[in-house]
Amino acid sequence: MPTPDADPNARSVLFVCLGNICRSPLAEGVFRHLVRAEGLEDRFVIDSAGTGAWHVGDPPDTRSIAVAEANGVALEGRARQVRPEDLERFDVVVAMDRENLRDLQRMAANGARSRVHLLREFDPEGGGDEVPDPYFGGTGGFEAVYRMVRRSCEALLQELRPDP
Ligand code: 4NP
Repeated sequence: MPTPDADPNARSVLFVCLGNICRSPLAEGVFRHLVRAEGLEDRFVIDSAGTGAWHVGDPPDTRSIAVAEANGVALEGRARQVRPEDLERFDVVVAMDRENLRDLQRMAANGARSRVHLLREFDPEGGGDEVPDPYFGGTGGFEAVYRMVRRSCEALLQELRPDP
């Protein structure tokens, strides 16, 4: 993966959840899919991470892979834990829920706090809500998560789209 500071013309976006196996890899994959569909892959660096370390090195949850695949989206990468320097290096850091948001704000130096957002701030149908943790639920939870992640990522891309 290109590093966030490799290209000064690229916007860098980091999606963060708790385990980095369910929600944030899905958001990363959906956002990358949308970026590629618009031919903007050279203009973005996209990654995801978890606030927890339990799943470091694991691929995404099979239920996230399945719901992504059903919608034509491929997931990439292995879980990693978020690091304090991520808050300095990524232009935008996007948390899935309020607990992730609080953990990131605690980790961020004062100047970096404005870069941390809740994903559903961008959701036209649920501004300010959380993306609920689907880990302990059934597949229906993953479908609901997919839909909110998709809507939010579409709106986030509108917000971050570079000038032509
Ligand atoms: P995620 O879901 O934060 O969306 O990746 C979870 C994955 C694993 C655990 C919790 C949430 N866990 O407790 O192991």
